Order: sequence, then structure tokens, then C-alpha cells
Amino acid sequence: MAKPSLVITRRIYPEAIEALSAHFNIAFENQASDTPLTKPELIEKLAQAQYLFCTVADKVDADVIAAATQLKMIATGAVGYNNIDAAACKARGIRLSNTPDVLTETTADFAFALLMATARRVSESERYVRSGQWKGWAFDQFTGMDVHGATLGIMGMGRIGGAIAKRGAGFGMQVLYHNRSQAKQENGARLVDRETLLKSSDFVVLVVPYSPETHHFIQAKDIHLMKPTACLINIARGGVVKDDDLLAALRAGKIRAAGLDVFEGEPALLPGFLELENVVLTPHIASSSRATRGRMVSLAAENLIAHVQGLPLKTPVI
Ligand code: DGY
Repeated sequence: MAKPSLVITRRIYPEAIEALSAHFNIAFENQASDTPLTKPELIEKLAQAQYLFCTVADKVDADVIAAATQLKMIATGAVGYNNIDAAACKARGIRLSNTPDVLTETTADFAFALLMATARRVSESERYVRSGQWKGWAFDQFTGMDVHGATLGIMGMGRIGGAIAKRGAGFGMQVLYHNRSQAKQENGARLVDRETLLKSSDFVVLVVPYSPETHHFIQAKDIHLMKPTACLINIARGGVVKDDDLLAALRAGKIRAAGLDVFEGEPALLPGFLELENVVLTPHIASSSRATRGRMVSLAAENLIAHVQGLPLKTPVI
């Protein structure tokens, strides 16, 4: 019997290609480029495909799903799936899987990396050294904020929020959190309302999933509640923060600094961010350790293979 056809939109690890090749006819594998397919390209590639392996950067909207008449399943190599129209999948009976759990600790590590880099001005001082400006030691050189003893506010207490809370406690921080629904992972953190969290925290870390409800979840009115000495860390999704408002607030000194791993319209970002020393910018790499990215790719592949074998999906969304 002919193997079902699978489109893989991006470079993945060889071990996963090998495992998938045993079960699928891989119809398209974008090894040459990290540039996402355009919508017409994706529609064309999916015309005959029954399975899709995609990433956070591929927009699989209702039009794409409607055009992909043979499609049976989508496996995204990410925990967040806001780039995929899950309702359209459900209506067509298309299965969808994601990669929760395997990236929790790595992503929490990175939230702390960004928090520490922002607090202690790591990127800014490294630029200073690299550019040959360092002429000698001084008491007031690159004085930053203490992390130990500070108040950490976590917006979104899911698995990753819980792992960040544990790290905060380890650093001797007072940990607050806010969550729309009842949280299961408190890890010593204290539940407060959204306004209290914004007003009381020295570091506000955003970990909420992106959805129409969390679009521009943080905008000028929220930033203005924060302490002028506070830092905002966004490892959630572009669009959770209204970047124009954040840039204006940083320029006006409404808050001290920001650490940003995600941006509205990424990989594009507001050029104004590049002009500011007090913003640490990274390219959506919170889950990027080799081990964890390997686990994400393998789990997505295992879900596809489970479906083709008629077995339950390991981590189904739908
Ligand atoms: C996710 O898994 O949703 C991340 O953003 C991808 O690294």
C-alpha cells in the first residue's frame, strides 16, 4: 500500500526524518531555507498531502485548511498553536497535536536568562566591552537591579509559569501570580489580582497563551501601573503585548527595561527597540536547547506516526 503523503515545512533533525520516512512519503521538506512558505505556496504544497508537520511560524488558517482537501492531521512542533485555526480543523475532522511538557523547564530557564540579562544589563555591557569602550573599573558602572529579594510577578500559571515560580523561589524572590482560571501549579507563589501583580512586581513575566482574549493583554494602561523601576519580560507570544505602547513607555521611562523573545509581526520588530539600550532582544528561542528542540521534533513525529498506525495521539489538541 502506498505510504501517505506528508509535508514538512521546515528543517527538522535527521533522526526524525529517518523515523518519518518509514511511514510517510515526504512530499516536501523545506531543508534549504528558514523562510516560512507563503500562503499560496503552503496551499500548493498541501494540495495532495494527508499530513502536515509545521512550526510556530507557519500560518495555517481557515483558507489553507479549506484548500487542503486530503488533510487528516497536523502536528506542530510547538506547545502554542495560535497559528493554526483549530476550530476549522475540528469542523473538518482534522486531528491536531502539539508538544507540551517537553519544553517546560528549558523555557523557564530562558525566562530567567532574559530576566537576569535585563536586570543586570548583560547585553548592554557586553556591547560596551566589544566596542572597545571599557577603559577601567568604576563603582557606578552598569549598576543594575538585584534579582534576589525582588518581587516576581508571573502572568499565566500553567506548566511553564509553575517552573518559573520554582526558579524565583530558588533566587529568594517573593513570587506572585495571576491566572484567569484556577491554577494547578502554584509552587509557593501567591495568587493576586492582575492590578496588584502589575503594581507590586519588580519583574513581570508574561507566559499567557495567545488568543483573541489575550491580544494586547498588556498595553499602555497596564504598563503605567507598573513601578518605574520594573522590568517586563515577554516569552509568551507576539501580540500579547502591544509593542507600540511598550516602546513608547520605555522611551518615556515609565518602566526600567524589557526582555523580549517574541514580537508582534515577528521576525519583523519595531525598529525603535533597536535604538534602546534597556531592551534585551532575542529571536523566539526560549525553548531552544538542542535536547529540547530534539524532543519537540521527535514528539511531533511520534504523534504523526501514531495517527498513521491508528494509535491514540500522544499529545492531542484535537
Ligand atoms: C512554543 O512551543 O510554542 C514555542 O513558542 C516555540 O518555541
